[in-house]
Amino acid sequence: MEEIKTIKTQEDVIKLLNTALEHEWAVSFEYTIHAYSMPKGKFFYEDPIMKSRTDARAQTIQIGIDEMYHSLQLGIIITQMGGTPSFKTDEVVRYPKIMDNLKRDKITEDMVINLYQSAEFEEGAFPKIQNMIWNISYDEVRHSQQFEAMMEAIKMEGNEEVLCFQPIAENREREENQLLHEITRLENKLLHQYLKYVLLFSEHQDLSQRLFKNSIDHMRHWDKNSGLLIKMKDVIQIENAVKDENGVERSKSPMPSAYPGEDRLPALENLIPAEKALIAKYEKLISLVKEKEIKEQLELHLALNQEHLFTDEWLLKNAQKIKGIK
Ligand SMILES: [Fe+2]
Ligand SMILES: [Fe+2]
Ligand SMILES: [Fe+2]
Repeated sequence: MEEIKTIKTQEDVIKLLNTALEHEWAVSFEYTIHAYSMPKGKFFYEDPIMKSRTDARAQTIQIGIDEMYHSLQLGIIITQMGGTPSFKTDEVVRYPKIMDNLKRDKITEDMVINLYQSAEFEEGAFPKIQNMIWNISYDEVRHSQQFEAMMEAIKMEGNEEVLCFQPIAENREREENQLLHEITRLENKLLHQYLKYVLLFSEHQDLSQRLFKNSIDHMRHWDKNSGLLIKMKDVIQIENAVKDENGVERSKSPMPSAYPGEDRLPALENLIPAEKALIAKYEKLISLVKEKEIKEQLELHLALNQEHLFTDEWLLKNAQKIKGIK
């Protein structure tokens, strides 16, 4: 993460916000992936902010969602300032041990706190941006304290060596598992593709809010599918990750860095085939899966994707009715 100290011009602001954005995209994944690599309801800690005994896994997912909202805030401001939000990301890493992932989470929080809090603005320049950055930085301060408390509890209970879920090789080769990985990858792509258009059309609240709703649905599906993979004795994959000899997985491209469509019509035209392809894959997977609970969850995802398709088709047709709309 590049440090950007002195902020004078609009370009400096956009550079700072895009540097932060590439971090926020990465951690929104990284934390959720770390969470879905550990068991539910097993590692509790005393949360220093909420003052309650909390499941480390559940809270790590919540923090990942906070990071997604940071991305959204940054992307909207970058767009309003005439910049282009970056969809590149910082590196995403998963260690074999739960404790090592939490250590990394705490370190990345402290790094980004430093990025936000060390930016020096010229007196009176961009006051609202300065305020936003301070506000985000204190979410990060909270996250850092929460990760710290999770680590302390794990240490106290002697769980430092506990490993993340390991996929069972034969299961991963099954058609159902491969299809679910593929679907989960597409959910992830669509979630960000919708978000790109949410940012692009943020001044048109009617359009951006409809697209945002779909994006959030895809985020939930990604999340739920990660849980289903565990039930299928598997574990969420990190896209384009390379595993080293110590079992550490690293990826610099955990999501596509570019999505097609810069105007309303091409954007909507791109969403329709993507939703159709996803629907077809869910239908295929549902026909293969035998376990009732998994099948029912997949059917819920399929139903919402059918709703998205209806919405997108009408958003496109309605836009086509208005000559010259962008
Ligand atoms: Fe953040
Ligand atoms: Fe954070
Ligand atoms: Fe969808």
